[in-house]
Amino acid sequence: MPGRFTDRVAIITGGAGGLGLAIARALGDEGGAVAIWDTNAEAIEQGVLELTGAGLRTAGFSVDVRDRASVAQAAAQTVETLGIPTVLIAAAGGSLGTPRDIEDITEADLDLVIDVNIKGTYNCAAEVVPHMRDAGGGAIVTFSSIGGRSTSPVTGVPYAAAKAGILGLTRRLAREVGPDGIRVNAIAPGLFLTGRLQGMFDAMSDKDRNEVLDSIPLHRMPDLRECVDPVLFLAGPESSYITGAVLDVNGGRFMAG
Ligand SMILES: NC(=O)c1ccc[n+]([C@@H]2O[C@H](COP(=O)([O-])OP(=O)(O)OC[C@H]3O[C@@H](n4cnc5c(N)ncnc54)[C@H](O)[C@@H]3O)[C@@H](O)[C@H]2O)c1
Repeated sequence: MPGRFTDRVAIITGGAGGLGLAIARALGDEGGAVAIWDTNAEAIEQGVLELTGAGLRTAGFSVDVRDRASVAQAAAQTVETLGIPTVLIAAAGGSLGTPRDIEDITEADLDLVIDVNIKGTYNCAAEVVPHMRDAGGGAIVTFSSIGGRSTSPVTGVPYAAAKAGILGLTRRLAREVGPDGIRVNAIAPGLFLTGRLQGMFDAMSDKDRNEVLDSIPLHRMPDLRECVDPVLFLAGPESSYITGAVLDVNGGRFMAG
């Protein structure tokens, strides 16, 4: 479906990361102008080079989503460079290299995971919503996880709390901004093997890998595109009457009641 995002400006936080950059590329391919917001300056540069090289309209901004002033500045620069954003994909997050087990998690680990995932999503939404109101509407996609929907054996308590918290944020925000024509939905991916995670998966024993596959009714690992397409669905016109929802994209590994 080419052109779903023609004349639209999309901000993708964590846009230089595995899923974020794949979403940026796909959104650009469908006509959108894409602002990549990330902390990783080198990866931003590479991502922007790749996308502009493919003829897409892109700009990159170094921003720490935990810092409201930095987010406000990036929002202003995005408007100036690309135009008024009507799509926000809030993908910056993760367990960010913090330990899994409670006895190993420091207060700094807890703050990092809660702040990047929850405060970061909040800060970006708070700065972008006024622009969407000016534009007469928009779509926000937040990033939960199967780790926030169920109990992941891989990630720990802070990640579970943050990703479950994002669902509350999503619903409450959807209620608040719905009258302005702004939709807010969450995506909850299962395990998607981005470059970083592929190495981890490959290094697992056959037994451990099979255990993962056996927990997935579709019994295969997904392609990144199988997360990108549902995100574009939530950001685009086909989901025009969907807001406050969570979309599980996990091959059936967790099924909501
Ligand atoms: N890959 C998966 O299997 C999976 C599964 C469930 C949920 N998710 C969620 O999807 C999102 C993207 O995951 P990914 O696999 O692409 O991770 P990734 O680590 O490849 O990308 C995350 C990006 O966020 C950026 N980032 C980190 N802290 C930031 C900050 N303070 N401000 C701005 N940017 C920051 C990083 O530099 C990185 O580029 C995350 O929210 C993650 O929790 C991923």
